[in-house]
Amino acid sequence: MTVLHTGRHFLQIPGPTNIPDRVLRAMDMPGMDHRSAEFAELGFAVMAASQRIFRTRQPVMIYPSSGTGAWEAAIVNTLSPGDKVLMPETGQFAVLWLGIAEKFKLDVDFLPGDWRRGADVGQIEAKLAADREHRIKAVMVIHNETSTGCVTPPLEVRKALDRTKHPALLMVDTISGLAALEYEHDAWGIDVSVGGSQKGLMLPPGLGFNAVSEKALAVAKANPSMRSRDQQGRHLALHAGDQSAVRAARSGQDARGGGAGERLRPPQAPQRRNAGGCQGVGIGNAVSGTGRAFARADRRRHAGRP
Ligand SMILES: Cc1ncc(COP(=O)(O)O)c(C=O)c1O
Repeated sequence: MTVLHTGRHFLQIPGPTNIPDRVLRAMDMPGMDHRSAEFAELGFAVMAASQRIFRTRQPVMIYPSSGTGAWEAAIVNTLSPGDKVLMPETGQFAVLWLGIAEKFKLDVDFLPGDWRRGADVGQIEAKLAADREHRIKAVMVIHNETSTGCVTPPLEVRKALDRTKHPALLMVDTISGLAALEYEHDAWGIDVSVGGSQKGLMLPPGLGFNAVSEKALAVAKANPSMRSRDQQGRHLALHAGDQSAVRAARSGQDARGGGAGERLRPPQAPQRRNAGGCQGVGIGNAVSGTGRAFARADRRRHAGRP
C-alpha cells in the first residue's frame, strides 16, 4: 500500500501526541552506552523530574514499556490471583485494563457504565461500605478515559475510601491525564499512579511509569507473586542510592572538565505542571533502559546494603 504524505505529518489523535521540535532535536543524538556514568546521570535527573510531574516524594518506577506494561506492573506488584478488585467501566481503556486483570486471575467487580460520564463514586462507596470483610484489595479507576473523554476525579474516590475506612489500594490510570489535567499523587492519597510517555508528556511512546505510595510498596514487598517488572529491588535501590551515585557521576565528569555539574542542577524553569509537555521538568531527552547505576545498585543489594 502506498501512503502519500504531503507536507509535515501532524498527528491528530489523542495519543501519541505530537512531539515538540525541541524534544525531537534533543533525540537527534548518537546512541548512549546505557551502562555509562553519563546515562546514570541522565537517569537520575529523569527519575527526579518524574517525581515532580506526578507531584510525589515517593519513588516513580520507570519501565521500558507501553502504558499497557505499566498497567501490568501495577497489578503484578500489588495483587495476587483471586484478589477481588473494583473497577468502574468508563470506556474502552477500562475494558482493556479489565482484560489484563482477568488474565492475572483477579476477581473483578466491573461496575457497568454508559461511557458518557466518569465513574459513579456513590456506587463505588456503596460497594466499599458493603464490603465489611475488606475483601476488595484495590479500586482501579481511569483518570481520563481517552476513548470517551470521561474524567473520574481520583480525589473523590480517595474520599469514598476514607469515608468508609476501607483499606483497599487506590490505583489510577492517568496515562492521558498526566500533564494535561491536574494530578497530585501524594496529596490525593493515590497508591499506584500509572502513566505513559506518549500523551500529555509529549514524548515518544516507550516509557511506562508507576508512582507508588509507601502503602503500595509495603504490599508489593509482601506479595509472593512472580514478576519481572518489580517495584522493589533495582528501582528502589536506585531511588535510595540516588544522591551518592549522582555525586559520583558528577565528580568523575567534573574532574575531566566535562561540566556535568551544570547539567546536574535541578531544572531552573518553574514547574509547568498541567501545562502539557515535558520541557519544564527536564525530561525532554529521556531514554529508556538501564545504566551503570543499575549495576551499581544491584551490587549494593547483593552485598546486603540498601
Ligand atoms: C487511558 C489509557 N490507558 C491505557 C492506555 C494504553 O497505553 P498503551 O497504548 O501505551 O499501551 C492508553 C493508550 O491510549 C490510554 O489512553
